[in-house]
Amino acid sequence: MPATMRQTGRAAMDFMVELTIATRPLAARWNADLAAAGVTADSLPDDLDDRHVAMHEALSGSSAFAMNSLIGEFASVQHGRVARDAYDEMADVLAPRFAALEAQGPARLTIHNDFVAPAYYPGVWFHRTTGGWDGHDQMGYVHSEFIHKTYVARNFGGDIFAQRRAVLGRLPRQDYARICEMGTSSGHFTVALQETFPAAHITGLDLSIPMLKEALRVANANGWAWDLHQRTAEATGLPDASFDLVASYIIFHEMPAAAIRATFREAFRLLEPGGQMLMSDVTPYRTMDKLGEWRADWMAKRGGEPYWREAATLDWSAAARDAGFVDVTEGGLNGAPYPWVITGTRPA
Ligand SMILES: C[S@@+](CC[C@H](N)C(=O)[O-])C[C@H]1O[C@@H](n2cnc3c(N)ncnc32)[C@H](O)[C@@H]1O
Repeated sequence: MPATMRQTGRAAMDFMVELTIATRPLAARWNADLAAAGVTADSLPDDLDDRHVAMHEALSGSSAFAMNSLIGEFASVQHGRVARDAYDEMADVLAPRFAALEAQGPARLTIHNDFVAPAYYPGVWFHRTTGGWDGHDQMGYVHSEFIHKTYVARNFGGDIFAQRRAVLGRLPRQDYARICEMGTSSGHFTVALQETFPAAHITGLDLSIPMLKEALRVANANGWAWDLHQRTAEATGLPDASFDLVASYIIFHEMPAAAIRATFREAFRLLEPGGQMLMSDVTPYRTMDKLGEWRADWMAKRGGEPYWREAATLDWSAAARDAGFVDVTEGGLNGAPYPWVITGTRPA
């Protein structure tokens, strides 16, 4: 449900986008500083924590790196605050519209009394978002409209919405009828699923009510009867063999490895025999050289992603096969390293 930001919020968001874009040339400068110091991927320690120390020392005299780090840190924290403030200055107009849209149907959001958030979730400010996904009553709208569609979309090199549609091209069928999406959030991937499989009924699960409320509004605005639940991916409470597709998009990097393994097992349980699983997330570290791996890990730390390294170092294919999946495929989309996609089938 897009809305035009008021002037103060728009100016502040524009500043955050332009500040981030302005730092891009600094990377070439600090990479040159690294090369001048004789640092190459091969000269770095194997251990990733030791590598962070070595890189910190190697770049300690680089003013370009210092500037990049400083602005990056500021932008990581500040973009979420600016987006939240942009909403707050429009709340008088948006809140009544939201209430009407949530009530109109045909989608439904169920909040279960027995829901318990997994221990790794509460208190984590994912994405450096103040208070995490539950840090504001309208975080779903704030994140979807102002962070994803404004800040990330303008900063990021590719089309983040086209990627969500494109990963579905990895699936072998066109006729899924009962889809379970894990980590629905504000509904970006759910939209791609519904548009790709228009006849399908979608059940969407997430930990965060503020995020699910935005998905509810997106569904209602489009006349889609999504069945949304506050549930964990690894323990959905849904019946065995009740779906022909279980899918997720970029939730693994918010989960410890044990939870990702449990999610594969839960997806297997939820699928009917012959049903498919498709999950997509960040690029595995094993595909990178030691410099690339350090860079991804440094960005993840700064970006407020405490479980990223666990997700990026877990052998997803092994975890999927351990859960029972067959015909497991794994790889980047169209030869690019991101997003990384895994598919598998529950044997008939
Ligand atoms: C980065 S957002 C993204 C997702 C969304 N699928 C998209 O395409 O934009 C991650 C979402 O996953 C949810 N999440 C994280 N761990 C989860 C879990 N164990 N079970 C269900 N949802 C989870 C978070 O609450 C958050 O809304």
